[in-house]
Amino acid sequence: MYRMGQEEVDEVAKVLLSKQLFRVGDPQKGHLREVERFEREWSGKIGTKYSLLMSGGGTAAIVCGLAGMGIGPGDEVIVPAYTWLATATSVLTVGAIPVLAEIDETLGLDPDDFEKKISPQTRAVIPVHMCGRPANLGKIIKIAKKHKLKVLEDSCQMVGGSYKGRRTGSWGDAGAFSFNFFKIISSGGEGGALVTNDRKIFERAFIYHDSGSAFRPMAGELAEPIFVAQQYRADEVMGAIARIQAQRLDGIIADLRRVRKQLESKLSKAGKFKIAPSNDPDGDCGVCIVLQFENEHKCRDFAGKIPHTGKYIGIDHSKHVYTQWEALRSRRIMHHPDMNPFLFEKNRGLRMNYDDDACPRSLEILKRSLFIPLDPDMTDEKIKSFAATLKRGEGK
Ligand SMILES: Cc1ncc(COP(=O)(O)O)c(C=O)c1O
Repeated sequence: MYRMGQEEVDEVAKVLLSKQLFRVGDPQKGHLREVERFEREWSGKIGTKYSLLMSGGGTAAIVCGLAGMGIGPGDEVIVPAYTWLATATSVLTVGAIPVLAEIDETLGLDPDDFEKKISPQTRAVIPVHMCGRPANLGKIIKIAKKHKLKVLEDSCQMVGGSYKGRRTGSWGDAGAFSFNFFKIISSGGEGGALVTNDRKIFERAFIYHDSGSAFRPMAGELAEPIFVAQQYRADEVMGAIARIQAQRLDGIIADLRRVRKQLESKLSKAGKFKIAPSNDPDGDCGVCIVLQFENEHKCRDFAGKIPHTGKYIGIDHSKHVYTQWEALRSRRIMHHPDMNPFLFEKNRGLRMNYDDDACPRSLEILKRSLFIPLDPDMTDEKIKSFAATLKRGEGK
């Protein structure tokens, strides 16, 4: 989260004073319909028919998206080797099995490896737009269509960015966003949203996120039968914060892009690294720049010379690399063994390799990629001195 201020405070105060905090309420009695308003405005911004705000964050949005698509036991879902672990664990939550595929130098899912990993059991793919950088949606969606797979975009780290002029999240059959504290905007520390143009996915996701009760006004409009599921409903405070944050979003991204462009142009003549290629530099959110080196040694050497930049090397990016998903790798899933999808009869014979050798190329790329987070409020003067700091890595 980059910016938050008096507007959020004012809107939250109005909600609290209305004493109508549940997402459903009577406007005649002072209910402000913040969640509903956010969802309408978010659909408009992203360019989809439907949107659902979730108290359970981007994780809940992915789970609901998969549930909406009808994914379950017996199904494989392809996920990239580099992503926050929730992308993969959400697949397990709906009873299916995540299959790892390599990333390429853009740090998104490698379309060629994705296609190689498709089996007769594959039902869906989750391209992830890591660090505000769009995955290669053009190729990925073409392959998915050819093999009749569903596409669920994990846009949790790419909130408001675009690919080829259209916002991410709106390209696939559904898209998931995170509004947790570490993301571009936040709905109050946690939260997320699911978007889709598909009525069936929307209805099933709606039912899943509403403890199966499909709350009052919607219940009569649903064509899908109600089933029992989870409780990820957003409350009105969350809706109010998310709504104001969404209004700030385009300004934040414009500033991040400005900073990234200026920094990249100042660094472009540096000899020791190249700037990681992007599937769409104009759509990229600009939350970081990524420098790529010939090998890990050169990357670590450079990183060691540039203090105080918030930098990290991809392979050290904690639970974002499959080799660090300990619980998943140890097959410890859910609270009871009979609910562990790795042990389901229907999943027998599906591919379950999460060992170090599963995606060696991704590990090799991440070892020599240095991520430098950016700040949208950097002045031109600060950008200049930041570039000079980064050049210290070159010994300049
Ligand atoms: C790529 C990715 N997917 C999913 C999530 C899950 O989002 P949340 O923490 O809001 O549940 C995150 C959050 O860090 C993420 O970065």
